Amino acid sequence: MRRKIVAGNWKMNTLLPEGEVLVKQLEFLTEELESDVEIIIAPPFTHLAVLGKYIKETKMKIALAAQNCADQEKGAFTGEVSAAMLRNLGCKFVILGHSERREYYAENNESLYKKINLVINEGMQPIFCVGEKLEERQANRHFEVVAQQIKDVLYRLRGVELDNVIVAYEPVWAIGTGMTATSDQAEEMHAYIRRVIGDKFGEHADRIPILYGGSCKPSNASEIFSKSNVDGGLIGGASLDAQDFVAIVKSF
Ligand code: PGA
Repeated sequence: MRRKIVAGNWKMNTLLPEGEVLVKQLEFLTEELESDVEIIIAPPFTHLAVLGKYIKETKMKIALAAQNCADQEKGAFTGEVSAAMLRNLGCKFVILGHSERREYYAENNESLYKKINLVINEGMQPIFCVGEKLEERQANRHFEVVAQQIKDVLYRLRGVELDNVIVAYEPVWAIGTGMTATSDQAEEMHAYIRRVIGDKFGEHADRIPILYGGSCKPSNASEIFSKSNVDGGLIGGASLDAQDFVAIVKSF
């Protein structure tokens, strides 16, 4: 049995007081929840200390993630936030390689490889995002593009390191657009990702959780999660609404 995970990526949304309200709503809505789904939230950096403290004090069953980290350990890197700083605030996960970072901040595979190592060395788990753009899918290059993203970064890890990684398949054309991959498209790519990982890492591939991301919402989550290679979701827009986010968790 693989882990089941639903992670909320808040992106650059909410002021801290709004984030505090959202976490309290999640606390209320998940209080009685009996579920084997791991729930994760990734608020902006500025919220992590306060929300991490609240989650710890209230013993909420929600884990904290960051949306990015530096590719250097520490030192003169103005504006950056290190993996160690995030771990120190209670983060258990770090999202890495989100398409918005690859696209708008020129995140490259070399830097992602360094980040993955730093995150794993701090005892946290990277949520490593892969996915193709619309023109790549239209040109029937989606498998090739995703395989390359995996090979350039994950193939350089050792099997024991890979066991700490969570993969998120996020077709770029489905992110924030309201266009979702069909459950069959998601399953097809997830099975392919598992195969590509298996080619290098053998049975480690059977254990790695692969999440789907891209306009996942309460109305489509259960259909997507019903697929055998889909182990959960990375939720953007719908994670900003506590009711919707918890509905997605419950749809597993
Ligand atoms: P979305 O974002 O759910 O708003 O499409 C998903 C993501 O980018 O993680």
